[in-house]
Amino acid sequence: AAAGSGCAVAVAHPNIALIKYWGKRDEEWVLPAADSLSLTLDVFPTTTGVRLAPQAAGDRVLLGGQEATGPAQARVADFLHLVRELAGRREPAVVDSRNTVPTGAGLASSASGFAALAVAAAAAYGLAADPAALSRLARRGSGSACRSLFGGFAQWHAALDAGGGAAADRVSLAEPVPAAAGLEVALVIVVVNAGPKAVSSRAAMRRTVATSPLYRPWVASSVQDLTQMRAALAAGDLNAVGEITERNALGMHATMLAARPAVRYLAPASLTALDAVLALRERGLAAYATMDAGPNVKVLCAAGQASQVAAALREAVPQASVVVARPGPGARLVAGDG
Ligand code: PMV
Repeated sequence: AAAGSGCAVAVAHPNIALIKYWGKRDEEWVLPAADSLSLTLDVFPTTTGVRLAPQAAGDRVLLGGQEATGPAQARVADFLHLVRELAGRREPAVVDSRNTVPTGAGLASSASGFAALAVAAAAAYGLAADPAALSRLARRGSGSACRSLFGGFAQWHAALDAGGGAAADRVSLAEPVPAAAGLEVALVIVVVNAGPKAVSSRAAMRRTVATSPLYRPWVASSVQDLTQMRAALAAGDLNAVGEITERNALGMHATMLAARPAVRYLAPASLTALDAVLALRERGLAAYATMDAGPNVKVLCAAGQASQVAAALREAVPQASVVVARPGPGARLVAGDG
């Protein structure tokens, strides 16, 4: 493998889970309680440059051109430390990361962010790594990031059979999931402006796992959802894909609402969007909602009906901005050597 030119730039897109990752069985290694399955999008990419700085005193992190400090800087520095350990290197680096997500939208930026950082940092430090190894690496930064290494649909394997720790670390990664050629989907994103999130996904997961009486039953149902989702994708059955997607997300939010104290991400405008999705279905359109650790609602529909679905959501939630996304590519190096 090349020693690494010391400088690399990578691009990654966010992914939205149809079968959610919610809860870890091992915090240190970022090992999930169950498999999850997502769609990588073609909107809101993150571009991240990593340049080695042998003379610097420590890692510098620029987010959107602004110097990051505190926990944001520490999270990136911890990740670089892991890459250095794997590559047998010591030099600090300068990380320059730019999101194209509308500011404050809170849209899966940790997934695209850590996927792009994994690809760029591995190349800059000369760490030879294929997409599978980069998926494992990205997982350590943010669990959901491991799925953004791949385009289209991807499944993150929990690797429960491997137990925990280093043994499971080797096999807990994402893989592309084939779908029927005729299945052409879009994800209509309703960006609800509700200010910064009250609880981080990391803290909310921890509280849910520790206190929610609904958590274990949801995990059990999610395992079944995943099997059925794979079959629905293979069959190209959009209605089944949508039904499973929506019930899996609502179930995840139910686990949080039952946590002590409750975690509630959905805002009034989120519920208005959910009503609009129901109304679309009553009009005969295949439209199904999913929500993550924030108030935004993402609506899965047929690609050919996306503009109709987007128009209905704009009318129902006039204060939201509505963006139509399609399946997008996996994370990749755009400059520097790999
Ligand atoms: O990767 P994290 O720690 O940001 O967790 C993401 C969790 C959800 O977005 C709510 C679900 C998922 O599978 O992406």
